[in-house]
Amino acid sequence: MSRLRMALTTGCMARPLVSLLLAAALALSGGLIASPACAAAASSAAMMERAAPPGAARLPGYLRQNNAERAKVQPGNNAPMWRDIKQHTGFSSLPDPEAGVLIQPQAAYPGSAFTSAGEAWRQTRNRLLIPVGGWLLIIAAAGIGVFYMLRGKIRLEHKPTGRKIERFTPFERFMHWVLAFSFIALAVSGIVIMFGKFFLLPILGSAFFGWLTYALKTIHNFVGPLFGLSLVIVLLTFVRDNLPSKKDLAWLAKGGGLFGGREAPSARFNAGEKIWFWVGVLFFGLLAVASGLVLDKLVPNFSYTRGAMQVAEIVHVSTTILLMAMAFGHIYIGSIGMEGALDGMRTGYVDESWAKQHHALWLDDINAGKIPAQRSGQSVQAPVPMVKPKS
Ligand code: HEM
Repeated sequence: MSRLRMALTTGCMARPLVSLLLAAALALSGGLIASPACAAAASSAAMMERAAPPGAARLPGYLRQNNAERAKVQPGNNAPMWRDIKQHTGFSSLPDPEAGVLIQPQAAYPGSAFTSAGEAWRQTRNRLLIPVGGWLLIIAAAGIGVFYMLRGKIRLEHKPTGRKIERFTPFERFMHWVLAFSFIALAVSGIVIMFGKFFLLPILGSAFFGWLTYALKTIHNFVGPLFGLSLVIVLLTFVRDNLPSKKDLAWLAKGGGLFGGREAPSARFNAGEKIWFWVGVLFFGLLAVASGLVLDKLVPNFSYTRGAMQVAEIVHVSTTILLMAMAFGHIYIGSIGMEGALDGMRTGYVDESWAKQHHALWLDDINAGKIPAQRSGQSVQAPVPMVKPKS
């Protein structure tokens, strides 16, 4: 027997029309969104409940009453029926794994009460993910701003020599920028989807905000797989030079030279970059992509139940928030935070004095011939703009 049918047979003979409307509204909204019909029915039920004889809830056996018994002491209170519906899965010939489930069973997600899973997910999103995630992003951005004001840009200690060393091949740069631009598109659209109602809706009004959010959500869904593909290629491209080494400990012990003192010598990538690579790009990045592909319904043979989508959404939001917070730091140090860093990713070449200051072990290996100074087919003498000598 389907849940809908059960609702009508077991329950609520006192108010069949209200029950039918309520059941239809819940079925249409997937049990997650309170539709206006559902809200209206619920509020009229609440009004009737208020009009119920005082003390009904204290009658002996109140919690064991069936719907017909409840209707006698509290007309309009259909709680026994809905409680019963939550316990059963019905049958439906529709090709959906949950077509026979009208209301998900009880569940608790982080920060939520133990209640119907749809409501638990809503509570997790509204009470935990939105406030904690929002504040984390604000604090990360503000922290970088304060750091920039206190420490300023990390300058080159010695004048550029004019001798160029190839840091990234054209393929490495291309893949990095595909990853970076797809990430920015996802971050901007994701922030509007999640937090836009707080800062854009009051400015834009609901008509334009609704249109914009829908457009950004569509972009988000299509750019996600491109980000995933470029993420995997970037991971494979850079994994070898991000393998941990004992020398990373010395670099970490000196805080990368950020808090005074000189930077400990590092190989092609320093310990900070390696943490970004393994924790940010690999761990959070892959989790964000995997959960995003589930939300996009692109994983073949996956059972797309409401519970699975709720878990995927919670994983997606948590990992993308942490990835964005870490990316703020990466983007800062790769652009305005360090003189000469962007040149490597922009042109492919860095000046020898930059390499000596920030990646001395890498430069040593190049000078010793262990690493080819020129890895791509381009000429070393290519007229690429480098860090300009200070006059
Ligand atoms: C506008 C945004 C971005 C800027 C300005 C930027 C800048 C840079 C720069 C300058 C480097 C070279 C650092 C060096 O020479 O040691 C670099 C390396 C790298 N970037 Fe980005 N980046 C951006 C976004 C991203 C994003 C979104 C990701 C990943 C999700 C990413 C992943 C990497 C990786 C994996 C490396 C290689 C270094 C390592 O393995 O840690 N970048 N980036």
